[in-house]
Amino acid sequence: NEGALWGGRFAGGPADALAALSKSTHFDWRLARYDIAGSRAHARVLHTAGLLDDAELAGMVAALDTLEADVVSGAYVASDSDEDVHGSLERGLIERAGAALGGKLRAGRSRNDQIATLGRMFLRDHARIIARGVLATIDALVEQAEAHPNAAMPGRTHLQHAQPILLSHHLLAHAWAMLRDVQRLADWDKRAAVSPYGSGALAGSSLGLDPNAVAAELGFDSAAWNSIDGTAARDVFAEYAWVAAMIGVNLSRISEEVILWATKEFSFVTLDDAFSTGSSIMPQKKNPDVAELARGKAGRLIGNLTGLLATLKALPLAYNRDLQEDKEPVFDATDTLELLLPAVSGMIATLKFNTPRMAELAPLGFALATDIAEWLVRQGVPFRDAHELSGAAVKLAESKGVELWDLSDAEYAGISGHLTPEVRSVLSTEGSLNSRSAQGGTAPSAVASQLAALKDALVPV
Ligand code: ARG
Repeated sequence: NEGALWGGRFAGGPADALAALSKSTHFDWRLARYDIAGSRAHARVLHTAGLLDDAELAGMVAALDTLEADVVSGAYVASDSDEDVHGSLERGLIERAGAALGGKLRAGRSRNDQIATLGRMFLRDHARIIARGVLATIDALVEQAEAHPNAAMPGRTHLQHAQPILLSHHLLAHAWAMLRDVQRLADWDKRAAVSPYGSGALAGSSLGLDPNAVAAELGFDSAAWNSIDGTAARDVFAEYAWVAAMIGVNLSRISEEVILWATKEFSFVTLDDAFSTGSSIMPQKKNPDVAELARGKAGRLIGNLTGLLATLKALPLAYNRDLQEDKEPVFDATDTLELLLPAVSGMIATLKFNTPRMAELAPLGFALATDIAEWLVRQGVPFRDAHELSGAAVKLAESKGVELWDLSDAEYAGISGHLTPEVRSVLSTEGSLNSRSAQGGTAPSAVASQLAALKDALVPV
């Protein structure tokens, strides 16, 4: 079998069941162009080491170029008998360069160092694509924040009304989390920028090949310092899967809110028609499927991470075939986010906020009680007492079925002599918001500074 990379010591071919189990071309084929790039770099170090002459190098590179063109056009595809992308591409190389030349390329490398390298190359490229998708989502949040600089909404803890906040403040809270995701991807790349090529099967190569020349040609910062680590480590994959899961979790959190906000009960947002779906039976339905799929796919991304960690747990050094299971989780995480991010950013960018409704609800549920307590503190009342007095006002208002600002001056005075009519200065959403003006607070002035700081931190990837 032309696509097999081993067989000399075996009396017969593999059982069909083994061949079927072993095969990975259906998922590792997407590494083909990285494999060919690695082969080109490897050919050059073989040449530098004197193992290919000038003509052989030229012939090898030309055959690899043709092979790549055929892979890209689809003229060359994995055959049924190919075990993995590496074996298939060696078959393709030999078809183009002949066995005498094509058979020289495998010297000094192993599929073990190859696959570890190609996986990193793939993930580094896609980490950038994903980071751009997250940045687009941040941009959508920033644009919505800028479009609604002074809109108030109920701020919640425990999903209960807590204190009034600005809509822009809330949206930017999601943006900061996503900014950290972008930063995580950039930071991850420093660890991913180390090339395992040259590690061989596990112990390195005896042929005088320069791993750093390969690393540089493939865009890495350096070659691995330990060939066992180079071939056996997959923490870089797991970390990528973790960042992907975290991105999914962050998307799921804003998605859950969008789902709630779009309910009749909240009526905070209207989803754009282009980012909602209908029902096959209920003609009136407009469903937040983008947000629901984001919520659902977060589970899938977490599953990819935990599945990969389970594969790695207790795996002895160095390479074990278990590691073939490293690819599908990170490929799926990649595909999932590349599909999801444009939909979520589009959904956010096109949300219509019902700001009058949000503003109307902002102070309800006694959300200004903290403002009363803090106003009392400014009058010299210890917070412990202020908390009690404000709580008494809430109790009275609740028993009468009114809001805090509906209580009369006499009723406030009846609770405490400290509760003079001046307390009304903080009994409004605006007063409450404006008072929280220190860095990080929800006052319009503080949110304006926050927005500037966030935009400063947004660097293109
Ligand atoms: N296809 C394998 C993988 O994805 C690489 C091949 C290593 N196989 C081997 N028998 N050493 O991990």
